[in-house]
Amino acid sequence: MPQSITIALSKGRILEETLPLLADAGIELIDDVKKSRKLVFPTTDPDVRVLILRATDVPTYVQYGGADLGVTGKDVLMEHGGEGLYEPLDLNIARCRLMTAGPKGETPPAGRIRVATKFVNMARRYYAAQGRQADIIKLYGAMELAPILGLADEIVDIVDTGNTLKANGLEARELIDHISTRLVVNRASMKMKHERINPIIEKMAAAVEKRR
Ligand code: ATP
Ligand code: PRP
Repeated sequence: MPQSITIALSKGRILEETLPLLADAGIELIDDVKKSRKLVFPTTDPDVRVLILRATDVPTYVQYGGADLGVTGKDVLMEHGGEGLYEPLDLNIARCRLMTAGPKGETPPAGRIRVATKFVNMARRYYAAQGRQADIIKLYGAMELAPILGLADEIVDIVDTGNTLKANGLEARELIDHISTRLVVNRASMKMKHERINPIIEKMAAAVEKRR
């Protein structure tokens, strides 16, 4: 009997770019994901189903085996920690940078610094590695407001064009890491279902290469 495979995709900005890569691996959603309220989707491969989740939940579903494979941003993976996951493929989509940023023209305080971010783990690691004392303030969005309203001296956030920072009187300071979307695999699934999973990884890798 063929082994069934569950793939967790991130809804939001990376979904539309992920679907063609999956289609090149022979996996297409039967329903129109934009029009449906479903969370689990059957695909053109009867043994493969797709979950549509918040990007931040994808590593957790894959770690605990709720999904065999997942697609999410490197930022989300670094923040999660990556336990129980293999990360075999860079899908080369949603490329951006994780950076510190602050009010334009200002220099950060020399001593203890207040930092607003949704990436609390990465921010903590980054400032510790720099030997800087940082109080990290957790926010879930609109980080750019925090320095303007006096909540924080700096933010740690995703930067692509820099337009969001600029529109809010901020500028990028230091690069923490380059970010792109990754394919992740549950460690146990990789062992138990490698005959199903390896061809999916190989076909998706070929699809990524074709688009370079
Ligand atoms: P949620 O809204 O569920 O909290 P999110 O805001 O992180 O999640 P998206 O905005 O859809 O989700 O972003 C998904 C991923 O795309 C991010 O994790 C990051 O890797 C990447 N990303 C975020 N912003 C940009 C951007 N401006 N340009 C390119 N890639 C980006
Ligand atoms: C992301 C990120 C930044 C912005 C950076 O937000 O949180 O705010 O993109 O992109 P830029 O440098 O090109 O301006 P997004 O647009 O995904 O909205 P969100 O805050 O709802 O996640």
